[in-house]
Amino acid sequence: MHRSHHCGALSIEQLNQKVTLSGWVQKNRNKGFIVWIDLRDRYGLTQLVFDEERTPKNVFEAAQGLGREFVIQVKGTVIERESKNPNMATGSIEVLVEELNVLNPSKTPPFTIEDQTDGGEELRMQYRYLDLRRNPVKQNILFRHQVTMAVRNYLSDAGFVDVETPYLIKSTPEGARDFVVPSRMNQGQFYALPQSPQTFKQLLMVGGLDKYFQIVKCFRDEDLRADRQPEFTQIDCEMTFVEQEDILNQFEGLTRHLLKEIKGVEVAKFPRMSFDEAMKTYGNDKPDIRFGMIFKEFNALAQGKGFGVFDSQELVVGIAVPDAAEMSRKEIDALIDWVKRPQIGAKGLVYVKCNEDGSFKSSVDKFFSQDDLSKWANHCDAQAGDLILILSGETKTTRTQLSALRMELATRLGLRKSDEFAPLWITDFPLLEWDEESKRYHAMHHPFTAPKPDNLELLQSDPGAVKANAYDLVLNGNEIGGGSIRIHDQALQAQLFDLLGFTKEEAEAQFGFLINAFQYGAPPHGGIAFGLDRLVAILGGEETIRDFIAFPKNNAGRDVMIDAPSALNKEQMKELHLKSTAAPKE
Ligand code: AMO
Repeated sequence: MHRSHHCGALSIEQLNQKVTLSGWVQKNRNKGFIVWIDLRDRYGLTQLVFDEERTPKNVFEAAQGLGREFVIQVKGTVIERESKNPNMATGSIEVLVEELNVLNPSKTPPFTIEDQTDGGEELRMQYRYLDLRRNPVKQNILFRHQVTMAVRNYLSDAGFVDVETPYLIKSTPEGARDFVVPSRMNQGQFYALPQSPQTFKQLLMVGGLDKYFQIVKCFRDEDLRADRQPEFTQIDCEMTFVEQEDILNQFEGLTRHLLKEIKGVEVAKFPRMSFDEAMKTYGNDKPDIRFGMIFKEFNALAQGKGFGVFDSQELVVGIAVPDAAEMSRKEIDALIDWVKRPQIGAKGLVYVKCNEDGSFKSSVDKFFSQDDLSKWANHCDAQAGDLILILSGETKTTRTQLSALRMELATRLGLRKSDEFAPLWITDFPLLEWDEESKRYHAMHHPFTAPKPDNLELLQSDPGAVKANAYDLVLNGNEIGGGSIRIHDQALQAQLFDLLGFTKEEAEAQFGFLINAFQYGAPPHGGIAFGLDRLVAILGGEETIRDFIAFPKNNAGRDVMIDAPSALNKEQMKELHLKSTAAPKE
């Protein structure tokens, strides 16, 4: 028997009991006549004591040689500590060791394996298995398990069946590049790894499975950010004989259940907002509604008064920043520099301070009277003490810039509280997006998304104006899920492929299997996929998904622990019929 208890289990209740513990040496404090060791496992820490008088001589001597991260087994007696540690679950006891068994020695780890470590990000990634021993990382992984189990149980109880779909498939377009896998047996041909199981889950509905879910890896070759990994996990779901309302209700139920079960938070019915409204009032399609600073358009109030910067622009738009009128000139200048950085790209920023005495001080006092500024303040609900910030320019760009500024200010003002949860449905997305570069339409969600039924006539006359039966779930300013009602009618699907610039032959070559399936009684269906990594991170109060993935990739898409990707050897290259311009590994 390796152990009778875990390292987090013992308390005064086990006083005088003989116990066996196994774990890693976290700390060795050798006072010469007494040695204390903190023994760690997944469940906690227990203090071991070896003392010159009470411990057998050979055990006492061996204890002095135990280094950090040695794996040991000890047998001993639970005794009461003289100086108790109330911050530790096992802090009132220690184990007086009688027998010691070194199960495996360890090299000195490259960083300290404690809550606060001295290891940098890259080093910890390289030794991720050591980083996993640290509490903050381990807790995140355990937390992910808790969320995953809650999701599984909820969906299974609601009648969803967990079905696995293949990883070696044909390209499923979700807007990113595919990762591809060469086929040894089919010379010159490649599988694509799924960007999502989209087409398969639709085929499961044609197959009559009615309600499907899968917690599934997806692969997308795209630029990485804090909330994006090249391989990530979806909670992928699909339902038959449903309308948008059914899906929103079902998955609002799941999200509400998770918030309650995992965070103990009760959330009222989720608000809904159309894509157009989100863009107009928050400047993006995943607004963080934990705080205000809602956009107000100033064109009517601020144009035509001789201020050239505003007069010539498509959009003049601003926000009222609460309690920020006291910002110093220097702080405001820093903010102006911030919006002028290339990442934001604004030309300038107009400000109006709403003074406590009811007067206004602005950067455009030359052009606007106190009366004008008072109207501005009313227009954006600015109170005395608030600071109005205004940008102008081309509509889309200016909204994006002000949205970035709004988020930055919210972060600086501490308004993005990680223990507050504000979910929001965004609906009525445009079906298509015009791409200037390729001069054609792209599907905003994916090509299987159904247009809103009352927009069908527009498909011919004004495709860009067609709204889709598509929706996103946003949580605290992050898109945590997205889905749509699908096209189940083959003629409509063919029309969509045509609008997206596929010739009949191309559509047939890429999606022939789906077009065929739809000829055999495809039922109305729809679904959604949540980004599990994002969901877990946000519930955990953070936004960097890497911290909630056991073995993540770095920002260059590399796994620095196993050193992947890497070159193949000549033999493998030959077998796969691949030629490389780079020098192959010998
Ligand atoms: P979509 O492309 O919106 O929809 O993806 C669903 C959710 O997956 C998450 N996500 C990511 N998470 C981490 N890293 C990434 N690179 C990444 N890309 C996406 C997001 C997103 O909301 N098949 C459709 C779903 C459907 O229509 O049912 C799909 O994949 O949280």
